[in-house]
Amino acid sequence: MGFDPDWLALRAGFDTAARATALEARLARHLAGRHDVRVVDLGAGTGAGLVHLAPRLGAQLRQSWCLVERDPVLIAAGRARLAVQPEAADVTVDWLEADLATADLAPVLEGADLVHFTALIDLAGRVWLEDLAGALARSGAPVLGALTWDGRMVWDPAAATDADAVAGFARHQRRDKGLGGPALGPDAAPYFAEALRRHGFEVTLARSDWVIGPDHPAMHQAMVDGVAGALVDLVDGGEAPAGLVADFRAGRAAAGPGRLVVGHLDLLGIPPSPA
Ligand SMILES: C[S@@+](CC[C@H](N)C(=O)[O-])C[C@H]1O[C@@H](n2cnc3c(N)ncnc32)[C@H](O)[C@@H]1O
Repeated sequence: MGFDPDWLALRAGFDTAARATALEARLARHLAGRHDVRVVDLGAGTGAGLVHLAPRLGAQLRQSWCLVERDPVLIAAGRARLAVQPEAADVTVDWLEADLATADLAPVLEGADLVHFTALIDLAGRVWLEDLAGALARSGAPVLGALTWDGRMVWDPAAATDADAVAGFARHQRRDKGLGGPALGPDAAPYFAEALRRHGFEVTLARSDWVIGPDHPAMHQAMVDGVAGALVDLVDGGEAPAGLVADFRAGRAAAGPGRLVVGHLDLLGIPPSPA
């Protein structure tokens, strides 16, 4: 499954507006006093996580980022994008082309002072999330994981087929996305939080909802297309009634874009202090 760089670019502004600033502030306090930090970003896409977070970690902090991504097309787009260094931060960047489903996580996380990801773990299955929690515990690094979809998608005004469409989208999210078997989708953030807590992490979850107003027609259209695309797969697999896609599109077109809230959770995990 590939991600379109144009979609990643479109969502980036909504991600930045939505992210839980209280968790970022808590992380900055945890890192206070350091002069340099090595950050590993998992499923980095074109580097939106770095562009967002690097300036917020602190202008005084020398940062070395390792961006881990399996899609060479996104890596190429990211290299071009990051050729211009983010302002207000002293940052060096390395890309690592790797499939996180099969990579040994220990060397990937080696030397990390922070592990970061955005919109990744809802693609992952239980075993992979347990493995990641274990690898984080062994590395001793804090983890900031932003924008995991939590199952909410609410249009106002609503249309009659919204609920069936969102339920179908959630079912599709639970398919195998190539990251350790059937994905946890909307259950991923609470599941991963518990996995980290079992390793002694102090974990905080906070909402990071996209709020998409009527003045963002491109994002509205992308959301309708994204849901409809998932429903087409379900219909093709005999898991949804044939008319659902057309009914959903017609319902949304009749209701108009209005306001859409897409629910996410951000997660901060602080490891236990070394004994
Ligand atoms: C929703 S996108 C988010 C990208 C980026 N973090 C952002 O916020 O723009 C999920 C990213 O995870 C990457 N990804 C998914 N499965 C992966 C895997 N098994 N190994 C490495 N990267 C993976 C995808 O290629 C994609 O770039």
